[in-house]
Amino acid sequence: MTSAPPAQSPLATAHAQLAVAVRHLGYDEGLHANLATPRREIHVSVPLRMDSGEVRLFHGYRVQHNVSRGPGKGGLRYHPDVDIDEVRALAMWMTWKCAIVDLPYGGAKGGVDIDPRRHSLSELERVTRRYTSEIMPLIGPDTDIMAPDMGTDEQTMAWVMDTYSVNRGYTIPGVVTGKPIAVGGSLGRGTATSAGIVHVTEAALRSAGEVLEGRTVAIQGFGKVGSHAAQIFERRGARVVAVSDVEGGVRSEDGLDVARLVGHVAATGSVTGFEGGDPISNAELLALDVDVLVPAAIQGVIDDATAHDVRARLVVEGANGPTTTAGDAVLAAKGVTVVPDVLANAGGVVVSYFEWVQANQAYWWTEREIAEKLEHRMVTAYDDVAEHARRDGLSLRDAALTIGVKRVAEAHKTRGLYP
Ligand SMILES: NC(=O)c1ccc[n+]([C@@H]2O[C@H](COP(=O)([O-])OP(=O)(O)OC[C@H]3O[C@@H](n4cnc5c(N)ncnc54)[C@H](O)[C@@H]3O)[C@@H](O)[C@H]2O)c1
Repeated sequence: MTSAPPAQSPLATAHAQLAVAVRHLGYDEGLHANLATPRREIHVSVPLRMDSGEVRLFHGYRVQHNVSRGPGKGGLRYHPDVDIDEVRALAMWMTWKCAIVDLPYGGAKGGVDIDPRRHSLSELERVTRRYTSEIMPLIGPDTDIMAPDMGTDEQTMAWVMDTYSVNRGYTIPGVVTGKPIAVGGSLGRGTATSAGIVHVTEAALRSAGEVLEGRTVAIQGFGKVGSHAAQIFERRGARVVAVSDVEGGVRSEDGLDVARLVGHVAATGSVTGFEGGDPISNAELLALDVDVLVPAAIQGVIDDATAHDVRARLVVEGANGPTTTAGDAVLAAKGVTVVPDVLANAGGVVVSYFEWVQANQAYWWTEREIAEKLEHRMVTAYDDVAEHARRDGLSLRDAALTIGVKRVAEAHKTRGLYP
C-alpha cells in the first residue's frame, strides 16, 4: 500500500508564493529573509476551567509578521489544528493583503488550538479572556488589532475588547474589529468579506466580457464567509447550485433556496439534511461543472490531486490558502483563472479598517457609504492586479503578491534600518 504524499503546509505555500514575488522583483537574500520572517511572535498557555470543574490546557499564539506599513492586523482563529506555523502563514498573508488593498497596516494573526463546537459559551468566554490577558502586552489599537476568523465571531471580539479595556481602565474599541454594533462595530462588517468576494467575481467576469447574472456558483464552507457569499451571489442573480460545510454538502441544479438553507443551518447546525437539494460530498463539490468555485472553508483543499478534478472556469478564494503551490500549477495548466485569497477575501479587512477609523474618530458612517467605499477599494485593487498581470505576463496570484510585497519592501527601505 502506498501512502499519500504529505500535504503542503500553509507556511510552505506562503513561502513558495513569496519566493516567486521576490524573484520577480529581483530582491536580494537579505531582504527576502526579512520579508519571510515574523517581526514578533508570542506563544502562551491558555488554561481553561471547564463547566465541569476540570481544568484543560490549550495553546495560543499571536504572530506579527510585518509592521512596516502600520500596526499589525489580523484575525483570531479557534481550531483544534492551529499551530505556530499555520499562524505564521496566515500572518504573512495578512501583510500582503493589507498592502494590496492599500491599508495602513502590517499583518498579524492569532490562534488557539481549541474546537469551539465542543465548548459552552461560558467556556469560550473564559478561554478568550485568558488568551487576551496573556497576549495583552503585544496588542492594542496602535500596535496590533484583532478580528474574527474561523471559529470566532463578533461575540469573541466583544470579550477581547472588554478584557483589554477593563485592564487598561477605560473603553478602547479600536483594539478589535468585527465587534457587535452595540460596542462600536461597523455597519457592513459582518458581510464585508463575502461582499468583496462577489465584487471581485463580477470584476473577473467583466474583464472576460461576461456578467454574473445566470452564472452557476459552488461554495465550500457555509460559515461567516460562505453563507453570506451565497446570499449575495443569489441576490445578484447568480445560481448557487451547491454548498458544503465540515459535515458534507447539498446541491440543486436549479439553484438552492439560500434563505431557506440559512434557516435550516440555524435550526440544525449544518447544511446536510436540507430537503431542498441532494447530498454531495466536499470532494464532489470541488469537482462540479460550475462557472465559479468559491473555496471558503479551510486551507489546502485544492492540491495536486483535487485540482485535476476542478471543472470551474473561475476559482475565487474566500478561504486563506485553499490552493497549494502544486494545485495552482495544475489549475494554471488547465486555463482556470484563480482570484487569489490575498485579493478575493480582503473585503473583511477593508471594512475592519473602516471600523477602526470610525472607532478612532468616534464618528459613524452609513451602511451605504461603507458599501460604496468597499466596492471601490475591491474593484480598484482587482483592476490594479489584473493590469499588472497582463503587463508582466503573470497569474493574478503572482501579480497580487508582487504588488503587496513591493509596497511592504518600499516602506521597509524608506524607513531605513534601526539602528
Ligand atoms: N471571517 C472573515 O472575515 C474572513 C476574512 C478573510 C478570510 N477568511 C477565511 O475564510 C475561511 C472561512 O472563515 P469563516 O470566518 O467563514 O469561518 P467560520 O468558522 O465561520 O466557517 C467555516 C466554515 O467552513 C466549514 N469547514 C470547516 N472545516 C471544513 C472542512 N474540512 N471541509 C469543509 N468545510 C469545512 C465549517 O463547517 C464552516 O461552515 C477561513 O479560511 C478564513 O481564514 C475569513
